[in-house]
Amino acid sequence: MKGSRFPGFHHLSIEERRALVSAARDLPDDVFELLRDGGLTVERADQLIENVVATFAFPLSIATNFVINGEDRLIPMCVEEPSVVAAASHAAKLARAGGGFVCEADESIMIAQIQLDEVPDAGAARVAIMARADTLLAQANARVPELAQYGGGATALRVRDLGEGMMVVHLHADCADAMGANMVNTMAEAIAPTIAGLARGTMGLRILSNLADQRLVRVRVRVPRSAIDEPLARAIVRASRFAERDPYRAATHNKGIMNGVDAVVLASGNDFRAVEAGAHAFAARGERYAPICVWRNEEDALVGSLEMPMALGTVSGFSRVHPGARFALNVAQVRGSRDLAMLCGAAGVASNLAALRALAGEGIQRGHMRLHARSVAVAAGAKEHVDAVAEVIFAEGVITLSRAREVLAELRNKND
Ligand code: MEV
Repeated sequence: MKGSRFPGFHHLSIEERRALVSAARDLPDDVFELLRDGGLTVERADQLIENVVATFAFPLSIATNFVINGEDRLIPMCVEEPSVVAAASHAAKLARAGGGFVCEADESIMIAQIQLDEVPDAGAARVAIMARADTLLAQANARVPELAQYGGGATALRVRDLGEGMMVVHLHADCADAMGANMVNTMAEAIAPTIAGLARGTMGLRILSNLADQRLVRVRVRVPRSAIDEPLARAIVRASRFAERDPYRAATHNKGIMNGVDAVVLASGNDFRAVEAGAHAFAARGERYAPICVWRNEEDALVGSLEMPMALGTVSGFSRVHPGARFALNVAQVRGSRDLAMLCGAAGVASNLAALRALAGEGIQRGHMRLHARSVAVAAGAKEHVDAVAEVIFAEGVITLSRAREVLAELRNKND
């Protein structure tokens, strides 16, 4: 099975799911062995950060049904919140009926900022810096020669006057398949003293901006009437309008998008704090904080569009050393950072659609409580009776640990 439509996947055992996924993507037989206990050994973790005492595992799931730019893709998601993966898979099935997600990603341009202070004449500083732009870009590129091998490199300088004698120079650099934080920080540090001299000011901070608005991903989806009827589509559009008019709602709307985005970002070993920071700064770029995905009703379909920064790498640091991240990149057959950005964007749109569909319809609590009942059954020690205990406490509406323990004891007595 080479596609992403795995009907009944959630009913299979873990072993059966593993077998299906490895066969579908030609993964080596021992791939899940390497992921035992979360994949990252404590010794390896100790080499990565400071003061390590243990590692901390998250569930890693596969979302199904995704069609992205006409191609079936499996989406790895690392997330602790029940229903996120099921909801994204279900929304992807609705989207599939309209051809799936149409995605595009900008070139991998990161921005590094060089702050200048006490600049006596902003106009003169701008002219002096821009007159030397080519030399400064060459100087930046000379510090990170390996980037040119991957088709990247510093591409442009932009000068902004912030007032009060403060200016900032933006260095744009194409980071190819790297997230690029280290590379652009190195470049910024290399050219900052020359730039401060040209501006006749003092040198301030030299650091990337997480508002990666030169590295956007755009996703569009058409959900046909056969998958969502007119009244529900209209209610979803009103939910979108609510978020567009009210920052309190927009924050929660965007959180629902980030449920999908972050899960893929984390699975791929990328910096989810950077993506979060970029998403919310981008959401706040207009007059007020706004949704990063909006929905409109067309004659025959509900149409969603997302635009957001997505600064990701597929070749750097953690993605390479964490077996879970390597697995995630392989299972999704990721072809580079722009491709990964599109998968993350599509997962975000799917999560948003699923949340709005539930909220505009019967509400989310029923589905959540069913999954919550499962967690309570697990916490009660149900093991082989998880589904049966969860079913009873959900049906009774008494989803407590004590009731789950009673039901478990009754079931065990009955089976003895
Ligand atoms: C919960 O994790 C996410 C939602 O609150 C998103 C939303 O309200 O759109 C359901």
